[in-house]
Formats: sequence, C-alpha cells, structure tokens
Amino acid sequence: MTAGADCIAISEFEFQKFRDFFYRRTGISFGDSKRYYVDKRLLERIGKSGMESFERYFARLRHDVGGEIEQLISLFTVNETYFYREEHQFDCLANHILPELTSHLPHGARIRIWSLPCSTGEEPYSIALYLLENWPEIEDYEVELLASDIDTAALAAARTGIYTARALHRLPRDVVQRYFSKLDADRFRLSNTIRQAVNFSQVNASDPHAMQPFAEIDVIFCRNMLIYFDDRSRQGTVDAFYESLCEGGFVCVGHSESMSRISSLFRVRRFPQGVVYQKPGDYR
Ligand SMILES: C[S@@+](CC[C@H](N)C(=O)[O-])C[C@H]1O[C@@H](n2cnc3c(N)ncnc32)[C@H](O)[C@@H]1O
Repeated sequence: MTAGADCIAISEFEFQKFRDFFYRRTGISFGDSKRYYVDKRLLERIGKSGMESFERYFARLRHDVGGEIEQLISLFTVNETYFYREEHQFDCLANHILPELTSHLPHGARIRIWSLPCSTGEEPYSIALYLLENWPEIEDYEVELLASDIDTAALAAARTGIYTARALHRLPRDVVQRYFSKLDADRFRLSNTIRQAVNFSQVNASDPHAMQPFAEIDVIFCRNMLIYFDDRSRQGTVDAFYESLCEGGFVCVGHSESMSRISSLFRVRRFPQGVVYQKPGDYR
C-alpha cells in the first residue's frame, strides 16, 4: 500500500456502494461480516491505482479504466481448487451419468460437458484425465469439454497448464507420470493433448445473457461457486443452467451445496456416490 492509501478510510456508505456494484457485476454478495476483508483489499487496490480517495477510485472503477474490474474480480474471487477434488463425482460421471446418457446415443455422438466455474483449470482437466483413465467408451464418442470462469487471471493460468505439486496431490502417481512433465522441483506441465482438449472462455454465471450461447450441454459441473452467491443470483444461475442443458442433462454441485432449496425444476437423482440433479424430459 502506498503512503497515500494509509490515510484513506472507507465509510459505511462507500462500502455499501462498492458491495452493490460488485454484486451486480459478479453475483457475489459480501455480508457485513466481510467488511474487514473487503476494506483491506479495496484499500490495497486504491493504493496501487494512485487515487487519493474512494470516490475517485470508484469513478475509475465504474468506467473500467485500465481493466480495473478484472483486477478486482481476481482479487475477490476464491480460486481454491485441485485435481481430483471430490473425486466421487467423477466416479459418478464415469459409472452412472455417462453410461445412462450414452445408452440413448449412437456411437460417435457428441457429449458436451461444461465446468463452470473452472478456476485455474484443475476441474475440467480432472474430468478429461478421469474419463481417459476410467471410462473406456470415451473412444466411441466425441466428448467436448468446455470450461468457464469469471476470473480472467485464473483462466490465463488454466491455459498454461502449469501446476505445483500441491495441486496434484490427489492424483495417482502413475497418472502424474503419464500426463505431466516435470519443469522443476515444484512445477509440472500438463501434456498438450489434454490442454488442447479443453475449450476455456470467460463467463459471468450470474449474467443470463453471458450464459445464453451455451446450449445443448449434457453435464454441468458447478462446484463451489453457488456458496458465494445470494439466493437471487443462485436462482438466476440455476435457471440459466436449465436453459443450457439438454432434456435429461445433469448438474453436479459441490458437497456443501444443494439445488433442491433453490429450484424445483430439476429431479433429484441419488447415486451411490451422492446426489446429482437432472433436467426432466426424454434425453435427446
Ligand atoms: C472455489 S473456485 C471453484 C473451482 C472448482 N469448481 C472446484 O470446485 O474446485 C470458485 C470459482 O468461482 C468463480 N466465480 C465466482 N463468481 C463467478 C461468476 N459470477 N461467474 C463465473 N465464475 C465465478 C471464481 O472466479 C473462482 O474461480
């Protein structure tokens, strides 16, 4: 923080103003308990921008000078993720969801799986690795992997495919050996083939217009994002999922999340690996 920023304070009114602005841009809502966390990071950005007051900084933000909104989104989003996180859901995908869907499909048909939010890429790449390792039928279908997030810095990291040992700690050692090359003591690069198999894009899940181009999706992985939304953004996002999915398509959410409370549009399906949600109707 610069010397100037040390003297800046954020009033309650300014906090509310910022909170509303950020909510409208991302669907993420900061409760009052987050006040200290928000102030601290906001003051950091104000300091870096060289502005001498919240008011001046906020004007810059509203006009999005110098990509300030993107920087703020990167600063305030929680990107925590790792390979094979909540592996039981990939197991459910390979052993229940895909066998059920493909029982209605001819060989060679396209299957579209969307990881939203994908953060730094570990989730969509895990889907690719898990299916290659555990679902031999992958050869018989054209699996299309889409991955989106609001955070452009996370997406840039995802595209490089470079990860630390910590991100890989849940992967079986032979999987690491087959698909990664070691760059140095703590960094590994994912093979080009897997990186090229995933199509990354920036999407704000709380913006229905941004979601509209995504159609005929068979399976959506939406894990560990809805927890940061309030009920209204959750509802909007889940409604958009409904529009994007094929009839009979599935949604997998994080273990601490549930769609039942948010929407009655989906059927609750219980598999040995856990609960997933299905859009009603005859698949294809
Ligand atoms: C904790 S990570 C979850 C990553 C992965 N799905 C997992 O479970 O490991 C949460 C991600 O949600 C993204 N996010 C937050 N708000 C979003 C929005 N409105 N649209 C799209 N992505 C968003 C953040 O940028 C962050 O990368």
